[in-house]
Amino acid sequence: MSATAGFVVVREPLLVREVLHRPEDFSPANALVAVTPLTGPSLRVLQGARFALPPILASNDSPTHAGIRKVVAGFFTPATVAGIEPRIRELARESASAAAARLAAQGHVDLVEAVAALPPAQVMLELLGLRVPDDELAALKAWSRDSLELFWGWPDDARQLELARGAADFYRWLRDLVRASVASPERNLFAALDRHGLSTPEICSLGYFLLIAGQETTTQLISTVLFRLAEGSCPVTWAESGEPDGARRAVRHVLAGESSVPTWRRVAAHETTIGGQTVPAGAEILLELTGNHSASGARATDYALAFGSGVHRCLGAKLAELEAAVVVQETAAALPAVQLADPEPEWVRLLSFQAPRTVLVAR
Ligand code: HEM
Repeated sequence: MSATAGFVVVREPLLVREVLHRPEDFSPANALVAVTPLTGPSLRVLQGARFALPPILASNDSPTHAGIRKVVAGFFTPATVAGIEPRIRELARESASAAAARLAAQGHVDLVEAVAALPPAQVMLELLGLRVPDDELAALKAWSRDSLELFWGWPDDARQLELARGAADFYRWLRDLVRASVASPERNLFAALDRHGLSTPEICSLGYFLLIAGQETTTQLISTVLFRLAEGSCPVTWAESGEPDGARRAVRHVLAGESSVPTWRRVAAHETTIGGQTVPAGAEILLELTGNHSASGARATDYALAFGSGVHRCLGAKLAELEAAVVVQETAAALPAVQLADPEPEWVRLLSFQAPRTVLVAR
């Protein structure tokens, strides 16, 4: 345990797990709080869109959490996730063969844009029963990246204002989607939450988190896996990852050591202790979910905490792992001989999110 940059940092996996399993002592209330405080101009832009994130799911430490979580979980049951695999494979195959065609025609292709970006968003929206036209997906991806940087990054004032404009546009678009979905006779998450008694701002708050967390994190995971495979620094080779078992192993290797969500936050609800040390009330805790297993003597392949643990554990864990494995497998199979064209791409490096921005490969 150490204190850096205002956080009590917990690195030891057994202690991380303990914190996650003591929600009365360590609340998730700070899960969606901006790491860099929002400036007046940014707040005004957000207020103009009536942007608000009341605690509904990831940051909800009240008794309402369990019931809301149950409604959301109904859209990601093991049977639903298993049933969507053929659709994931279809989307992955389509984008992998388009990437192969682009590689043949242009001599290079960015795998983040070509194969990692869209399938997770398309699958998530289909599972949630939300109708979003394909030509709006690019905006959803750009807004997601902006929002991650706004809430988990260190933008200067000018950049923050730009990001706040993106978040405000996202929120307006989301409110329209919530209204249309609630009025729709088709089964969808937002109508189910409305029936559960949530107001439009409450559904928007949940939707804002889920529409980002439910796809951009998987895009990021796929991006890192493809980068490490192309670089040759993964214990699995590019050729082996063209098979289901190799792809799964490559995904788990990256989840254990370099996950797209390497940390998550909690806040001490009152003065308490962890690992024999006193933690004052209100202290912000940064949990290193993965990447530190060697220190505890656990296996290097241990990725048990990559999706959190306890009552807030990720509801999309199985889906994310499946999507990543299928996209990696189909990509490696469709592009059997690739070279990494840019070995030092720019990376997204935020408090709780990381991935290469591009994975440029050539013939
Ligand atoms: C590689 C991809 C992903 C990673 C690494 C990831 C990781 C996480 C983490 C670390 C948490 C916090 C857990 C905790 O507080 O104990 C979380 C929460 C959550 N995730 Fe994921 N996630 C991913 C993909 C997804 C997907 C695909 C979905 C749904 C489509 C999803 C839905 C959720 C939800 C709903 C929560 C909040 C659960 C609650 O508070 O009850 N995630 N995720």
